[in-house]
Amino acid sequence: MLLGVNIDHIAVLREARKINDPNPLDALGICKLSGADQITIHLREDRRHIHDADAWRICEQSTLPVNLECAIDEDIIDIVCDMKPMRATLVPEKREEVTTEGGLDLEANFERIKKAVKKLHENEIEVSLFIDPDKKMIELSKELEVEWIELHTGTFANIYAMLYGNLANTHHTIKELELPRKELKKLLEKNIKEIKKAAKKANKLDLQVAAGHGLNYQNVTLISSIKQIEELNIGQSIIARSVFTGLEKAIKDMKELI
Ligand code: PXP
Repeated sequence: MLLGVNIDHIAVLREARKINDPNPLDALGICKLSGADQITIHLREDRRHIHDADAWRICEQSTLPVNLECAIDEDIIDIVCDMKPMRATLVPEKREEVTTEGGLDLEANFERIKKAVKKLHENEIEVSLFIDPDKKMIELSKELEVEWIELHTGTFANIYAMLYGNLANTHHTIKELELPRKELKKLLEKNIKEIKKAAKKANKLDLQVAAGHGLNYQNVTLISSIKQIEELNIGQSIIARSVFTGLEKAIKDMKELI
């Protein structure tokens, strides 16, 4: 299983002080030596974590392929075309969100996405669409002629955390998931089935399948065991663990698990 390490969270730490330390660029060599297969970053419209200068340097200097996540905003797509990462992953973006919440609505944004995909392809950048595990979204991905889809695992991760990660006892409690444990277990099973079904469908349509969001050392094998999924993009849990173990060990541990 391929591992894309999302290094945004290094920039999150830097932005807590608005200085130049820690520098996401310093992670590139460690990621490669530790067995990561790809560097993932998200150039947000408000640039609150990764700045243009980070993204430029990462695209120029990384010896691993770069997967640049971005919104379907024309200005951002133009910048991404200039930066020439190996892949652009189109994600929905709301300024007020803490992190990406849910997949792209390909139906509502079809024409805008089509235009963005065309432009990225003209610049020899492969495209991935971050979508919910939904039949319609997979069919539309095929119509949009992208190479990859990335299945959003955030709902799965939230349910898992409510059940086994003590999330129910923290201030992050997700109101919609205030269900008895028995119901949550059923919901988790259902969600995993949906992810499997979506991965199979995409695979049949010759789309390459990645997955990500909220994956961690506890829940990841439930997703990495789905054979149609080729790649996982993981950030928060790896960088969180690296505070205690160092980045090299955090990546190696994840790579071993998946
Ligand atoms: N994949 C996509 C498309 C994302 O937007 C994110 C979050 O930036 C991730 C993967 C990584 O999620 P996490 O940081 O929860 O591992």
